[in-house]
Amino acid sequence: MSESVSVLDPARRDDFAPTVITWHQHRGRHDLPWQRSRDPYRIWLSEIMLQQTQVATVIPYFERFVTQFPSVTELAAAPLERVLELWSGLGYYSRARNLHAAACLIASRFQGVFPSEVSALETLPGVGRSTAGAIAAFGFGVSAPILDANVKRVLARWVALDGPLEASANQTKLWEIASELVPRAGVQAYTQGLMDLGALVCRARDPDCPICPLNRGCAAYAQGLTAQIPAAKSTRPKARRRATLLVLHHHGSILLRRRVGPGVWEGLWSLPQWDAPDARDEAIACARHYGKPDTILRWRSLEHEFTHYRLEADIYAIDLAGRIHEERGAKVAELWIDLAQAQGAALPAPIKRLLIGLYRASPMHRGDAQVHLNP
Ligand code: ADE
Repeated sequence: MSESVSVLDPARRDDFAPTVITWHQHRGRHDLPWQRSRDPYRIWLSEIMLQQTQVATVIPYFERFVTQFPSVTELAAAPLERVLELWSGLGYYSRARNLHAAACLIASRFQGVFPSEVSALETLPGVGRSTAGAIAAFGFGVSAPILDANVKRVLARWVALDGPLEASANQTKLWEIASELVPRAGVQAYTQGLMDLGALVCRARDPDCPICPLNRGCAAYAQGLTAQIPAAKSTRPKARRRATLLVLHHHGSILLRRRVGPGVWEGLWSLPQWDAPDARDEAIACARHYGKPDTILRWRSLEHEFTHYRLEADIYAIDLAGRIHEERGAKVAELWIDLAQAQGAALPAPIKRLLIGLYRASPMHRGDAQVHLNP
């Protein structure tokens, strides 16, 4: 518990951590792959993967990463390209770039050993205050508070927080509460218990209050306000970005280009792209660099939600009658990939899905929107 002035009623406060710990012993999760050791490397890796992704999705990625890179120094020694490849499909790729940068920092500045202090952990790329708290608590038994989205909701309901979670005064208040509640002993069970309560019981929609161990002291439950707290975020419609993608195809292979930054997909392989809708002429002109365009098909469009905008891309699929094998120079990083290999490449998830669909259905050879360019 912090030494600062309490913002909570002492009896309610002192009951909180023991209740969470006891509940975790009986009802919490104990068999997640990153719980099998206290290795800070594994804990850090899992916490980064879990930042924006559900446990069930993370598990196979986590297993693949630790098999491929059993230690932080092995991760640091790997090319970023390999890390992105393994991350492919998990989304929010800045996490993978930060992961690699942080591993390099641990290897160089910290001699391959994770620091145990929250302040040092917070200097690592991609590690904010809550993630640093989780690594310190799980990896080193440090009594550090966490405040991820689930925990914010649990605490907001428990104190019947007024107003939106994102308001800066509320963020400050929630950190004060989280700091006051964290126990001196049993911090691992407490932290995991709090996360599990948020994920399994105090759910955003349809919380299971009757079985919640914290219900006796929960202000929102007492006031019948669990549906209203936390207050709904005011959502502005996302900005829309339009683009055109080209699936350039020849004998089962397609052309990929590496995305240059800055941007969400920086460093990943993707389809040639123009940041304008319906760039059919540009796509045909591009195809001509590689051979004789035979057929062109206006394919269905791709829609994808990023954190801050929504991408709507028109897709043209062009078949080449023959391919010119010419050197394009070092300016554009590109490769031709067999469609069957697309699953293993470092591609953004929506592009990978598109190519797998293409492989399965071979839609380029189907449909009446197909136009012969060279009759
Ligand atoms: N979400 C973030 N960290 C987690 C953890 N250690 N276990 C389960 N869910 C989590």
